Amino acid sequence: MSDDGLGQIIGDLYPYGKTTKAYRRVPAEPVERAAILAEIADMAHTEDARGDKGTVSGSLYCGDHDHYHFLGEVFDLYSHANVLQRDMYPSATKFEGEIIAMTSDLLHGTGVGVVTSGGSESLITALYSYREQAREARGVTRPNVVMPVTAHVALDKGAHWMGIEMRHAPLTDGYLADVAAMAGLIDDQTIALVGSAANYAHGLIDPIEEIAALATSHGIGMHVDGCLGGWLLPWAERLGYDVPLWDFRVPGVTSISADTHKYGYALKGSSVLLYRDKDLRKRQYFAFPDWPGGLYLSPGFAGSRSGGIIASTWAALLATGESGYLATADGILRTAATVRDGIRAGVPELEVIGDPLFLVAFKAAGDLDIYLVNDALIAQGWRLNPLQLPPALHFCFTRPNTAPGVADAFLETLRGAVAYATQHKGEPAKSGAVYGFGGTPQGNAMVKSVMASVLDAMHEVAPDAPAS
Ligand SMILES: Cc1ncc(COP(=O)(O)O)c(C=O)c1O
Repeated sequence: MSDDGLGQIIGDLYPYGKTTKAYRRVPAEPVERAAILAEIADMAHTEDARGDKGTVSGSLYCGDHDHYHFLGEVFDLYSHANVLQRDMYPSATKFEGEIIAMTSDLLHGTGVGVVTSGGSESLITALYSYREQAREARGVTRPNVVMPVTAHVALDKGAHWMGIEMRHAPLTDGYLADVAAMAGLIDDQTIALVGSAANYAHGLIDPIEEIAALATSHGIGMHVDGCLGGWLLPWAERLGYDVPLWDFRVPGVTSISADTHKYGYALKGSSVLLYRDKDLRKRQYFAFPDWPGGLYLSPGFAGSRSGGIIASTWAALLATGESGYLATADGILRTAATVRDGIRAGVPELEVIGDPLFLVAFKAAGDLDIYLVNDALIAQGWRLNPLQLPPALHFCFTRPNTAPGVADAFLETLRGAVAYATQHKGEPAKSGAVYGFGGTPQGNAMVKSVMASVLDAMHEVAPDAPAS
């Protein structure tokens, strides 16, 4: 990538560098609350405006500001509470237990689980539990996990942190986990298999029954990543959509992650990790009896946790209710179907990947540069998610996208974007700037160094912002 391209990405991180003062040290005197609120409200409203129009893929899920306001009220009551201190806040046990019970009921579980801070923590924690179980029960010292390449990258992150080797299986022509290829990667150090329902890239559900049977035949567990689909697919099934079995009804599925902060419509910062049995859950517990600071026990990664998140997650599930989830899922699934079928029927230059229900990924059917298509969509205010290997885009449908006219407007813009990409064939796409370098050791090293620069920049004050 050129220095200009990197400079542009980093520059885009600081839109407030020119419009607001930057605090590089704590202000000597308190700033008026009203002024703080006004500044924050201004940023929040500006930033929300795009998502509220329904032109954004994923990210927001609910988008109902009345719902958010209600959750904010609940959060307010417990924002300062630390759920670690159950003697002070026994309500946390009620909220947490009931969030787990409701999620487990939805996914036909056994009522065993934990609440975490999000999908990544749920996935990484599951890996940890399998690693501990395999070490103690089977003496595994060089653990590996087998999963399709489309399984979420947070699993790679967790494996990286915990010294687990991640073995990636290729996909079938239908973009699903190739179970035979997975079988070929298993050995006596394999601690678990993973499948997704549905995966982030293409929104497709892996053949969970087959993967689970494979896991059982090797005497190991299987995690299903339902972070994205866990709170949507059950409603799709009840609405009569063809959803293959993927939850605890499948023997051999031993854990499932399902994010309440996605289609559960809770505030950001919550997910549920369910286990089939308590023995596996126990592997993630930490108790340290010999600490001068007292007897310490905690269920997972976090120490102190916000009571606001637990209480507002519980409130989100109650305030939405079965009928609310069904009605919203109905709108999301219909909108996704309109776009999926509209691309298949009316945009021959593009190919929908697989047969998705709620997240539609598409790639070029010929030699069109899909990132040029994305450039044109961005110029018209649409924010899709770019994919690679192969180059593609996806639209993850959420409640804001169900507003009348959004699906048709998108299809029309998409046709125009394809025409733009056809006219500008051969030109470098702006939105493809970080793609195309991977796949070789030198390319990967370059991408990693660019990403590190971007992450550095995300943790700094806008360089040219005026001081407070
Ligand atoms: C399938 C899947 N798994 C896991 C995650 C990670 O979730 P989080 O971003 O909450 O950590 C995502 C996020 O989009 C996802 O789509």
